[in-house]
Formats: sequence, C-alpha cells, structure tokens
Amino acid sequence: MTTRTLPTTMKAIVQTRYGEADVLTSASLPLPAPEPDHVLIRVEAAALNPADVFYVRGVPRMVRLDGGLRRPKSSVRGHDVAGEVVAVGDRVQHWRRGDRVFGEAASGSLAEYATAAADRIARIPASVGAVDAAASAMAALAARDGLDAAGMPAGTDASGMRVLVIGASGGIGSFAVQMAKSAGAHVTGVCSTRNVDTVRALGADAVLDYTREAVTDLPAWFDVIFDNVGAVPMESLHALTTPTGVVLPNSGLDGPDGGALMRVVRTHARRLLLRRRYRGFVSTPSTAKLEAIARLLADGAVTPLIDEVLPLARGSEAMARVASGHARGKVVVTP
Ligand SMILES: NC(=O)c1ccc[n+]([C@@H]2O[C@H](COP(=O)([O-])OP(=O)(O)OC[C@H]3O[C@@H](n4cnc5c(N)ncnc54)[C@H](OP(=O)(O)O)[C@@H]3O)[C@@H](O)[C@H]2O)c1
Repeated sequence: MTTRTLPTTMKAIVQTRYGEADVLTSASLPLPAPEPDHVLIRVEAAALNPADVFYVRGVPRMVRLDGGLRRPKSSVRGHDVAGEVVAVGDRVQHWRRGDRVFGEAASGSLAEYATAAADRIARIPASVGAVDAAASAMAALAARDGLDAAGMPAGTDASGMRVLVIGASGGIGSFAVQMAKSAGAHVTGVCSTRNVDTVRALGADAVLDYTREAVTDLPAWFDVIFDNVGAVPMESLHALTTPTGVVLPNSGLDGPDGGALMRVVRTHARRLLLRRRYRGFVSTPSTAKLEAIARLLADGAVTPLIDEVLPLARGSEAMARVASGHARGKVVVTP
C-alpha cells in the first residue's frame, strides 16, 4: 500500500447494536486499512439510502446474513461516498493519490475516511461538487438500472412512451423522473402535496398527489411503472399498464405485497406463472456505470435533488431523516 502521512484515527458515526437511528453515536476509530484492490478515500461527502437504514435496524432480517446475526459486524454505516484518494492498495493500477472519486464505500462512509473497491468508484468531473457526486452514487445508478430493466436503456428514444414514477420526490424517483423525461417520455410522478412543485420542476408532465387522489384511478396507459414505494398492490399497478407495459416493483419496504423478499418472490412467481410483466433488478455499481452517471452530472442532464446537507456529528439525525421515508431527494453528510 502507498500512503502519505495520514492521521491514525478518525471521527466516525458508529453503531454497536441494531435499532433506530438513535443507536448511532460519534466515536474515534482507527483509519480503515484498504485491502490490496481497494483505495482509501478522505471523505468529502457521504449520502444515505434506505439500504443504510436496513443495516442500522437489522431489518429486513435478511440483511443480518452479511451484516451480523445478533449485532452489526461492522460499526460504520453509509454506502455512498465522494472524496479524494489518499492511499491505494498494492494491486490498484487505475487510481492515484489525489484523484477525486465517488461510488460505493466498503468500510462505511459516515466517517472522515473510507475504503472502496477500485472497481466500484469513478472520477468526479471537475465541474461537479462532492455533495452532488455522493448523492448520485446509489440512487442515480438504481434509477438507470431500473429504466434499463424496464426496456428503456440509456439512449432510448422514449417519445410516445408514458412512464409512471411512484416516489418521484425520493432519491431514486427524482433521478428516474429526470432520466425518463430527457429520453422523451411523458412522465407522471407520484408524491405528497408538499412535493408537487418539486416533482414538476424535475420535469414531470403530470403529478399525482397521493394524499388526495388514488394511484389506481390513473388511466391504464403506462408503458413503464417504476414503483419505489410499494404502497399499491403490484396487481393494481399491472392493471394500469398497456398490453406491453412493465411494472418495476422496486421497494425494500413492507407493503400490501409483503416485505422486500416476498416482493421479489411474488415478482418472479407471477411473471413465470401468470405471465405478468414485472421486472426485478438489483443495482450494483461498477466504474463504467458510475462514469456514465458522472457524464450525466457534468452535462447537466441530471441534477441531484438534495434534501439536506448535515455535518458528520449529526449523522444520527441524517439517518433518521431517511428512515422517515419522506426525505425530499438525498440526505448528505459532510465531515
Ligand atoms: N433494486 C435495487 O437495486 C435498489 C437499489 C436502491 C434502493 N432500492 C429501494 O428503492 C426504494 C426507494 O429508494 P429511495 O432512495 O428512492 O427512497 P427514499 O428517497 O427514502 O424515498 C423517499 C420518498 O418516498 C416518497 N413517498 C413515501 N410514501 C409515498 C407514497 N405512498 N407514494 C408516493 N411517494 C411516497 C416520499 O415523498 P413524500 O414525502 O411526498 O411522501 C419521499 O420523497 C427503497 O425501498 C430501496 O430499498 C432498490
């Protein structure tokens, strides 16, 4: 490993047991040591996702299979990271100290330093800030991967297509609205009253306020339904599609179709047995996929919707905001 003079300890937000966001506290930890194919990043920004909440709670229980059965195996949460490479593992070829990168942290990004696999980060364009880069790692990738799975890969001319995005003011939904709109689709976004103007500003042609109208009352004309919430039964969404339209049941939360695992089982079972047009996807980062997101950010084709930027010391509050299920876009933490 190549290093320069680095501190031996760092501030981090840690958890020693599963629970709500208030189990997170500030601590001083040794710097994480990068594995041979990892880099060490001085964190400039970390963004939070529902996946981080799952690991804080240990719920859905399946996250305990790799997160630790009785208590968390690793104490630092946070997947999305942006910052400067300060050390590289012995097998890392592509990255040098001083490179500014974003992507998926291996050691937890709610800290002053985090490690990341060399093939799960990409360079931050010069015109893009660390907050926007961190905010775009998991959520923008999931939006892209979801649209790909729905048959709308990047470069698709989607003019004439109708796309429904449920959770349009959330992390993934806010990117999905922008991506579908820039592909030429007619986009309907679903959110609550306070987010209607925001979702319109993201580019949605129509907005349904779910506190006033039912999603199920929409016309049955959608080519793609990207559901990031899971509050409407999958079968009811399927009824809103055209004869070739597809539904992406993308939610890890409990709802009428059960939790994350049950929704995956139902997606595949109904697809195979009832020939429903459901598509599942699991978004995983790679340098190439993150580079594509970086280009969209640099070109201004997508702009992250930022709910709040909080200092690291308020990491617990940041996690609680995401756990509420009502963040408006991304919650970002800066050391
Ligand atoms: N497949 C994958 O690989 C993958 C990857 C990442 C994440 N995910 C999953 O994707 C889901 C969405 O993630 P996210 O980061 O977008 O979540 P998020 O940012 O936490 O979503 C919050 C948004 O959801 C909206 N919302 C809450 N209830 C709603 C309802 N009934 N109808 C419409 N909107 C509602 C809220 O708007 P209001 O405040 O207006 O209600 C809020 O803006 C999560 O369950 C996550 O587990 C999947």
